[in-house]
Amino acid sequence: MSLTQDALWHKDAVIYQVHVRTFSDSNGDGVGDFQGLAQRLDYLQELGINAIWLMPFFPSPLRDDGYDISDYESVHPAYGTLEDFKKFLAGAHERGIRVIIEMVLNHTSDQHPWFQESRSSQNNPRRDWYVWSETDTRYRGTRIIFVDTEMSNWAWDPISKSYYWHRFFSHQPDLNYDNPAVREQMWNVMKFWLEIGVDAFRLDAVPYLVEREGTSCENLPETHAILKELRRKVDQEFPGRMLLAEANQWPADLRPYFGDGDEFHMAFHFPLMPRMFMGLKLEDRKPITEIMQQTPEIPASCQWCLFLRNHDELTLEMVTDMERDYMYDVYAGSKSMRLNLGIRRRLAPLLDNDRRRIELMNGMLMSLPGTPIIYYGDEIGMGDNIYLGDRNGVRTPMQWSGGWNGGFSSADPESLYSPLLLNPVYGYQAVNVLSQKRTEHSLLSWMQRIIRVRRSTRVFGAGSIEFLYPANHRVLAYVRQLGNETVLVVNNVSSSAQAVELDLRRYKGNILIEMFGRNIFPRVGDLPYLLTMGPYQFYWFRLRRI
Ligand code: GLC
Repeated sequence: MSLTQDALWHKDAVIYQVHVRTFSDSNGDGVGDFQGLAQRLDYLQELGINAIWLMPFFPSPLRDDGYDISDYESVHPAYGTLEDFKKFLAGAHERGIRVIIEMVLNHTSDQHPWFQESRSSQNNPRRDWYVWSETDTRYRGTRIIFVDTEMSNWAWDPISKSYYWHRFFSHQPDLNYDNPAVREQMWNVMKFWLEIGVDAFRLDAVPYLVEREGTSCENLPETHAILKELRRKVDQEFPGRMLLAEANQWPADLRPYFGDGDEFHMAFHFPLMPRMFMGLKLEDRKPITEIMQQTPEIPASCQWCLFLRNHDELTLEMVTDMERDYMYDVYAGSKSMRLNLGIRRRLAPLLDNDRRRIELMNGMLMSLPGTPIIYYGDEIGMGDNIYLGDRNGVRTPMQWSGGWNGGFSSADPESLYSPLLLNPVYGYQAVNVLSQKRTEHSLLSWMQRIIRVRRSTRVFGAGSIEFLYPANHRVLAYVRQLGNETVLVVNNVSSSAQAVELDLRRYKGNILIEMFGRNIFPRVGDLPYLLTMGPYQFYWFRLRRI
């Protein structure tokens, strides 16, 4: 197998998000590494994914799990060497799997030599690489993101006796994008990795690159101009490589990140994700249809990235205050499940470990317009550890087997970078890859199946969507269409059996073929099409005129 030549590969991808540190430890030091990850590529290929998104693996003091970078052009020694990375990359490519790496443009670690120089004196040549101020009162219109830990976006530097700007932790000073030397340097960093052969970048925290007085310092035209310039360079020198935006914004503010197909190829759909959880609890399709109606059209070459969970808290920034209260109430009863404006839990515990709800949510993830991302461990229903600090509770070691350290590492359990889950419900003896491989009905086997079905047609990645609005609002139904392929998706988002009548007159004469079992359902006639559905059940039907 090798990589497809398709320039629109990102539209057909199924992405697996993984942190090298959490996945597999090859040298027994208690920390996952690139050799370990490379050894698990067969597992990922079998799962059926065709892209991997790696969290930051660069040298870092690890005060924000690697999003605090102290050297952009090498590999953290705990994870291996640049050679190990290259071998892993080659191994992925051989299996037809593309690799998306993280590019943290907005800020560095305060341990980065650039910042060390910048803070060393007011007239250091690198002084202007960061955003300095004599006062902490500039840019007052800017919100604080890590509200649980930070009081201000300014921090006092005792060495150069002035304040520096930071949108995240105070140990993550923001780079100054008004400085052309910074822009050039960060392009050089990207080029370094593109030349090694990475396929794409997830560009971290892109709304915040530029600051201007009197604004929110988010989504500024100057920021978009910088991003467009990076895209132009990528297209020119590395055609076919892809840029994915992390811009946690409302749909209207997200839209400019696609430009006219000349900025990002993809952006996460942050507002949709919490509304899927909301719809499920309310047993009503409305939160989902409403946000999809507000979702603007994007250029044909672009794509949304959809996800249920990731390495961060389930963010509730893109919901109203009332919606947030509701989400906290129903999904995060205990305070220790909350962090900043979000919920720090994994998919299975959020859904009460209910297999039907886990399947339904994955069914929607894989059939709504966009490219789905699976967060490592969610394919086997791993749990979380809310007693670990920050977001570490959703970053515990991958559970491979019921044996020593869950098959993650041969180290002393006490020396692991994080304790494994041990409880009888989610612990590694109960939830692991090896035992799920043994049965056709495990969640893992089911995930393999749904990924296969999703990838059997391009309609899910590239097709149009049209919502049907049956009277029964507990049912979410939509038609995906591409060329002469038409797929009808029907989801019962409620906990009880439902009957639904769908207006399918437009498809009169077609038969419905259920895509998992390939069984034929009655032909569409003049009458409303009646379906009955069990609790949390969903159907994918291919429409065929035979
Ligand atoms: C992004 C990352 C998050 C990190 C932050 C600061 O939001 O997803 O994990 O803490 O950027 O780099």
